[in-house]
Parts: sequence; structure tokens; C-alpha cells
Amino acid sequence: MWEELYEEAVKDAIKELENVDGVFVAYNANIDLIRFLSEEDVQRLVDMVDSRELIRRMTEYPRRIDTPLDLIARLMISIEGGKAAEVPVYAMEIDGWLRENVGFDEKRLGGQAGIITHLLSRLDIRNVIAYIPWLSPEIAELIERDNVFCPVIKNGKPILVPPTEACEKGKGKTNWILEYRKGMNITVGDKRIVCPRDNRLILSFRPPWIRIEMKNELLNRIHNICAHIDGAILSGYQMIKKEYEDGTTYHHYVRNSVEVIKRLREVSPNAKVHVEFTSIQDREIRETILREIVKLNVHSLGLDAVEVANALNVLGHEEIASRIIKRERTENLFEGTKRLFQELELERVHLHALGHYICIRSKEDGVEGAEVERDALLFASALTASRAMKGDVKSREDALLGLHVPVYNDIDYLLEFLTRYEGCETVMEGIVEGEDFYCVIVPTKVVDNPVATVGLGDTISASAFVVNLSKLSKDKSLFCPVNPQN
Ligand code: GLC
Repeated sequence: MWEELYEEAVKDAIKELENVDGVFVAYNANIDLIRFLSEEDVQRLVDMVDSRELIRRMTEYPRRIDTPLDLIARLMISIEGGKAAEVPVYAMEIDGWLRENVGFDEKRLGGQAGIITHLLSRLDIRNVIAYIPWLSPEIAELIERDNVFCPVIKNGKPILVPPTEACEKGKGKTNWILEYRKGMNITVGDKRIVCPRDNRLILSFRPPWIRIEMKNELLNRIHNICAHIDGAILSGYQMIKKEYEDGTTYHHYVRNSVEVIKRLREVSPNAKVHVEFTSIQDREIRETILREIVKLNVHSLGLDAVEVANALNVLGHEEIASRIIKRERTENLFEGTKRLFQELELERVHLHALGHYICIRSKEDGVEGAEVERDALLFASALTASRAMKGDVKSREDALLGLHVPVYNDIDYLLEFLTRYEGCETVMEGIVEGEDFYCVIVPTKVVDNPVATVGLGDTISASAFVVNLSKLSKDKSLFCPVNPQN
């Protein structure tokens, strides 16, 4: 039965995506240097340092990487849990150390906004407006396509230009991605670590000049050039620092981002705003971003299980957060996603876990909205399965290829839990109704040996979000007063 629902949802989404006129995407795009580590590679790195020192450093849990020991400790923590993580690196010499001691297998477009811009352009969204504050010629080449535009000020005027015209030499950012495999068996002193899941550690290099910001000159006029958008997808907030050399603090960048959202919604009041979350190491910044950007200005949030726990942790829900960290059981994930939805007063929270997605959404769009959501999640799952197999998305139709991957069916337990203990009622396959929400759960298509895991989460969240937009967009003319295309 799920296979039939999948097929229908994918075919329908391929048609409906035609309805999306424009999506604004910001902020982070970078080059990813990817290394696929083998068991021997990891053991060799571990053997480079003293095992007692390593275990001590793992217990200390470095929140930034200043030395090779910090790096190996965070890698082992990630491998031990099979949990993805993104850790900042301000010590730029670590890049040289990695080139010498690890090396890379592949160089790709990375960064959530970079991956999402590329994805939306391939899904043939009519106008993808990408704002990347540090757009380098190399990244611009990678996102260039005739439906991608970048807002810039030229000769004192705000205009949209192709990425290769918007870029600047000398800018740009490079991250390292260390991918590892399920089943790796590593010895650290007398401890044995066995990796439970394919995943990766991201070393996010943060040169001192990086800013998540739109300068006033553009900010004050952005609405003149992004006059009609159906939605915006924002990410990269993890780059915001507490303090900067020029005396500014994170508050300045949070305010700036809120201002960007407000400007965009001034001319497209019906536009929905999605934030793609990730690890934000500093708790205070994490909380501020959640409360001041997400809660007050955003409709939709996408994240994985660890990120749900990290978000709940700073919002005063430590107990459920620690239950999720200890065991990613589906009922804990449901509970955590629901709490985030309620606490942040969002329209939808989409959690992607291995084997299933859970989306809690408001009742505003009725059961039809929940059905749209289910189809959106199914399309996202099929598309992502094809990306996991091929390493890239080239068109909407790629989702058809994903249909051949079998579903990883483990949602029955959760459905039973919801109806038996949570007082929810099943209204349709994969859709249950709670007091103030619909919970949409779908079993996903899981590829056994993904080409790479990096970027899959972004693909899931962004594609599900735009399918939602495509169906909501049908009556946009009712709401949107400014549409230069009409
Ligand atoms: C983060 C990382 C980037 C990676 C992306 C994948 O944005 O900074 O390197 O490509 O996540 O989701």
C-alpha cells in the first residue's frame, strides 16, 4: 500500500511543482572536501595520538577544533554514536593538517543553502534567488543555471544577476567532511568502538571575516527585487559567533536576519519561511536563534533527531532531550517534535530520521493540509533515495528512480503508540489527529550504501517544503498583492 501512495505522490508532485514561482535561499554555500574514511584510515588517525589523552578529550567533548587531538576526539564521538555533527574550526592551520594526514576523495558544492539552491534549480523552480554573502567564483560556477539569480547592488541599484556575475574573488569557504561507515571497528586503548550507522563529521572552517548578514544597502531594497516569492529557506545560522572583533555581538546578526525576513514578507505576505537547522555549539546563541528568529518569524523547521534534542535542551525540555539522545525511539522522537512545534509555535516541524519522517503540523489547513504534507514527505523520500544512489539530483523525475528503492517500514509501532496512549485518532494512512496538531508519519526509502550522506537532510527538508508550497501556491493570487510577473 505504501508503494502505491508513493507512486501517486511522486507523480503528482512532479506536476504540482510547476506552481512555484520563486523561492529565496540564504546564506551558506561552500566547497566540501569529502573524505570517505575506511576502518584502517580511522585506526591510523587514532593511533597517531595517545589513547588515554584521546579518551580524556572525548569525555571533555571539545566544542571547537583547535588541535588534531580535538579533531580525532570529535570524530570518534561521532563514529561511536553514528551521529552526524558539525564542529567549528577557527584554527585555519587544521586545513593543512587534513591535507597532509587525511586528504580528500571528492570536491563538491556544499553548505545547506548551496545544496538547496542547486536542488531547487534542478527541480526547475522558476526563480531561485540565492543570497550568499561570500559567493566565490568557484561556488558561483557550481550553482549557475538559468533559473538561479543573486541579488546585488550594481551602480547603486538593486538587481538580480546570475551567480557568476554576483561573485567576488577572494571570498569563499571550504569545509571538510569525514564520512564513515556502519560496522567500522576501532580500538582506542582497551576500548572497542563499533560504528552503528553510516554518517559524517563536518569540520566547518570559519574564517574570521565570515558574516551571516545582508548589508543595509541591499537590505533596505531587497523587497524591490524579490517582489514575489512563495517561500524562503534560510540556513547557516550556526556560523554566528558571540562576539566579533569590531565589537558587534550575535544580537546584531540575529536582528539583521529577522529584518531580511520582514522585508521579504512585506511584499510577499503569504510567503512561508523555512529554517533548516543544524548543530549550533553555543547554547546561548542556539536559544536566541530559536526564540528570536524561528519562533517569531518562521513557519517551518527541518531537522534531524540530534538537532531536535539539542533544540529542546535549550528551550527548557531537558528531560525529553536526554531521552532522545539516549535512545532514538520513535515515540521519543514524536514527543520531541511535538514539543518543538508547540514551544516554537510553528506551522510545521519536519524531523528526518533513518527509516521514517515525522511531521507535526498545525490544523490550520485541515486534513487536506496533512494529506499534502504526506505527499510532500513521500516525494522527498523518493527524491532523496535517488540522490543517495547517484550522489546528485538532476531533475524532478529523479524521484521516479527512487521509487524502486524498498521502504524501510517501521512506523506501525509509532502509529499504534499514538492511537493507544496519546489519544490520537488515525484519519488516513500515516496521518493521525491530535488535539492541536496532525502528525504525519511516513516510512522512507533507505539506500543501503549511499554515495555520501552529506546533504541528504537538506534534500529531504527542502524538497518536502517546496512541494508544500506548490500546493499552497494555487490560490496565492488571493493573498499576494505584488507580483511583477502578472
Ligand atoms: C553544513 C556544512 C556543509 C555541508 C552541509 C550539508 O551546511 O557546513 O559543509 O555541505 O551542512 O548539509
